[in-house]
Amino acid sequence: MKIKIAPSILASDFSVAGETVKKLERCGADLVHCDVMDGNFVPPITFGHQMVAGIRPHTSLPLDCHLMVLHPETHFEEFKKAGADYVTIHYEACGEKLIENLKKIRSLGMKCGAVVNPDTPVEKIFDCVPFADMLLVMSVFPGYGGQKFIEETLPRLEALRSFCIKNGYPDMDIEVDGGVTEENVRTILNAGANVIVAGSTVFRAQDMQKTIERLRG
Ligand code: DX5
Ligand code: ZN
Repeated sequence: MKIKIAPSILASDFSVAGETVKKLERCGADLVHCDVMDGNFVPPITFGHQMVAGIRPHTSLPLDCHLMVLHPETHFEEFKKAGADYVTIHYEACGEKLIENLKKIRSLGMKCGAVVNPDTPVEKIFDCVPFADMLLVMSVFPGYGGQKFIEETLPRLEALRSFCIKNGYPDMDIEVDGGVTEENVRTILNAGANVIVAGSTVFRAQDMQKTIERLRG
């Protein structure tokens, strides 16, 4: 199972975002994680599709857009035009429209993912498995970088990976987001995640390339 490292630019200097994504590519990142927040689904506002369009010409890495927004479906076309490769959407924002929304993302030619918050049973996204390219288990409450990894995420990752294996999707990308460090990444990978989001760990690193290598476990 390929391990992919997805640094979150939330922890970076937005005034030089183009340079940042070039550096991430040179340092061996696999995806660029873009944290889109609307000030409603989560308290902060970060950036939207225009930032994604701004960094697009500076990297060939896939742009992994994590939409922490209400009514995400009203933005899919903008993100497609901006050059997003993945759009991930929250169960908590979509409810019963989650699968329908995943299908919309795919119909626009992007990869799609379903996300659950730490206090949502992971079983809520089991139905999405046949319709999703990625599943994202939040290991902190969304909204802020630099929080501590919630340990209860580990059995949730195990449950999701074993569901995927039992149901014929052993290679499903399972992403984890929040509080990942060089110290805890091994247990997170062992629990079944293979796509690792890391904001503070990557952007506070002395040597970004070495840190990304070490995050691969
Ligand atoms: C939190 C975001 C995360 C965040 C991770 O709402 O979804 O992607 O940037 O930051 P760290 O790795 O610092 O916990
Ligand atoms: Zn995120």
